[in-house]
Amino acid sequence: MPTASTANVLSRPVLSPGMLSSAVTLAAGSSLLGAVPDPALVPSIFRPESVPADSIHQLSLFVLAVTAGIFLVVFGLIAYATWRFRQRPGDDGREPAQIYGSNPVEAAWTIVPLIIVVVLSLATARVLHEVQNAPMPPSALEVEVVGHQWWWEIRYPKLGIVTANELHVPVSSPADRRPTYLDLRSADVIHSFWVPRLAGKTDLVPGRRNRLWIEPRRAGLFLGQCAEYCGTQHAKMLLRVIVHTPEDFERWVQSQRAAPGPVPDTVAPGRRVFEQTACVNCHALDGTIADGRFGPDLTHLMSRDTLGAGAAANSRDNLREWIRRPDRFKPGVLMPAMNLSDTQLDQLVDYLVTLR
Ligand code: CUA
Repeated sequence: MPTASTANVLSRPVLSPGMLSSAVTLAAGSSLLGAVPDPALVPSIFRPESVPADSIHQLSLFVLAVTAGIFLVVFGLIAYATWRFRQRPGDDGREPAQIYGSNPVEAAWTIVPLIIVVVLSLATARVLHEVQNAPMPPSALEVEVVGHQWWWEIRYPKLGIVTANELHVPVSSPADRRPTYLDLRSADVIHSFWVPRLAGKTDLVPGRRNRLWIEPRRAGLFLGQCAEYCGTQHAKMLLRVIVHTPEDFERWVQSQRAAPGPVPDTVAPGRRVFEQTACVNCHALDGTIADGRFGPDLTHLMSRDTLGAGAAANSRDNLREWIRRPDRFKPGVLMPAMNLSDTQLDQLVDYLVTLR
């Protein structure tokens, strides 16, 4: 039987289709079990909090202003013509004079759009250059992100950290620039990394390395998700970016680098269950024989807020249910149910919740 909190998670509207529910799900993901989504967490390109997202936002406002102007002119002319030349009582019913080949009119509707297109192209090219060719400062943090069906592997090669689904980065300021440069790759199909308030979308393509950088100006949580259809659970490939103050980031780094402590005797049976089942083929866990790369690294499992790339809050009850039947949270998930007995499940969860 699912527990109360599991049932709560499962009854959230996370399975309903469509972008709106997706946005609501993302926002709800903040508190996960909270009923009211926090509007500050809704991922919107119109509230940028990072340098490249800011450039893109300004460009989009400019393009929207130009296209709004075009709409007003065209719609105004149509409305005027419709009203001015409407049918009136006493019309003789004949067609008006048909005029062909007016040089001034043709020149106007050729040259004006041409100028608009050139201006929009130049403005776009400028922002593209600014965002894509930004040189990496020496103070930048380098992170590798690998897309998997359906989760994100996140590696900090220079710091020796491996985690999943939750990207921790420092906040940046003009006086102390700390942008994060992401190396995007895929282990299977095409995914797309998109955290709307921090940067534009960039695809993760098998056999390629794509680059993306973010430079958040404010500490906090930013939500995103895979933006390229990648299979059954594409919609539950959520991303959490946690932006820390420099001191908090340093603390997070130290806690992730810390080797796991000795396993208390009380949870030793759970560790044996872990090492004797197929868990070890897919997951890595420092200090055990587990060295798999197919699933998320579990060394600091409980330091993460969610399970299954945002599918559920990372609580003890959800963790137990996730191991018992992963497809209850994510139908089609590639992690199989291990068919453990209730006792083995309890032992295993007792062990896993010690991984902080
Ligand atoms: Cu990964 Cu869609």
